[in-house]
Amino acid sequence: MFTQLITWSAQNYSHLPWRISRTLYRTLVSEIMLQQTTVGAVLAKYENFLTIFPDIATLANASEQDLQIAWKGLGYYRRARNLKLACTYIVQELNGEIPLDYQHLIEIPGIGPYTASAILSIGANLPYLAIDANVERVLARFFAIKLAKGTALHKKLHSDYLQQLGEDFQKHPRQFNEALMDVGRIYCQARKANCLLCPLRENCQAAQQQDALDYPIETTKKVAQFEELKLLRLIVMNKQGQVLAFQKQKGQWLEGQFELPTFTLDCTDKKNQQYQPLPQKINFKKLPMLKTGITKYNIENYWQQISQTEFKSYQKLQKFEWIEMDGNLSTASLKILKAWKKNREEV
Ligand code: ADE
Repeated sequence: MFTQLITWSAQNYSHLPWRISRTLYRTLVSEIMLQQTTVGAVLAKYENFLTIFPDIATLANASEQDLQIAWKGLGYYRRARNLKLACTYIVQELNGEIPLDYQHLIEIPGIGPYTASAILSIGANLPYLAIDANVERVLARFFAIKLAKGTALHKKLHSDYLQQLGEDFQKHPRQFNEALMDVGRIYCQARKANCLLCPLRENCQAAQQQDALDYPIETTKKVAQFEELKLLRLIVMNKQGQVLAFQKQKGQWLEGQFELPTFTLDCTDKKNQQYQPLPQKINFKKLPMLKTGITKYNIENYWQQISQTEFKSYQKLQKFEWIEMDGNLSTASLKILKAWKKNREEV
């Protein structure tokens, strides 16, 4: 029943680097990276990360700064901390070996039910279902299960449907799981289902009923509300080509990273205190602007280069230091510097 699915996935997506050379450690890294980041973004970072941290022991001993630099661009940095936490535990408590047992896996700090199942299924080719958002949606549609996303649906899949996946799943759990992820990413997306091209169309109940978008069912849970944040980013340079920056503190976004001097111009969320408010009103609308985003915030970054003398009035607001324009700066700050350089060259 699933031969077509598995063949389609193998033909089109075997080249993904985490599917080429496999070790449990490489799977642990890719599965944590892929949990909240797109395949495209992980593709750009994965091999470099593994060159810097080629094994569990190296990652367990990584410095915070090296970890941050290698993780840059993947977002949700807490995952990197969890990954290091897991590696430290595996080195200290498990002799450096990743266990192939679900109960032991979820005892490891930083490894939850999804990562544990993914290590078993994708890493070790054992018959476990690793249910991420794509797999959850594809199977809810395939079996036309009238449940909302979440634990109840996962339980139901395990209790009532695992058996129906049959031999294809039992014999090739790794390929099966990865193929479901691929279908979810390519044809069976949350708001768009291309059933005509899908390799599951013949046996998929939702495809037959032409109601794929009705599964998993929508709950009335409120949708994430986006907030608009406007920031002023200042570029202050010295003769050595260094820029002024400040280090983000514990509990702030991008903890430990450096950012250009940054002030809040306006925010729809009045409770947001990530950056200091700008003490004086300025007409920022004429400044060049670059859009970024973090968690629920859409950010408009207005930027301006000012002299060291002009910066004196901002100096007392925070502790700033001169740093090189390199990987130590946050992704947003680097983007702004790049845009600023480009503007300068065009003038
Ligand atoms: N291949 C292996 N694991 C994957 C994942 N979590 N997402 C996409 N492709 C994958």
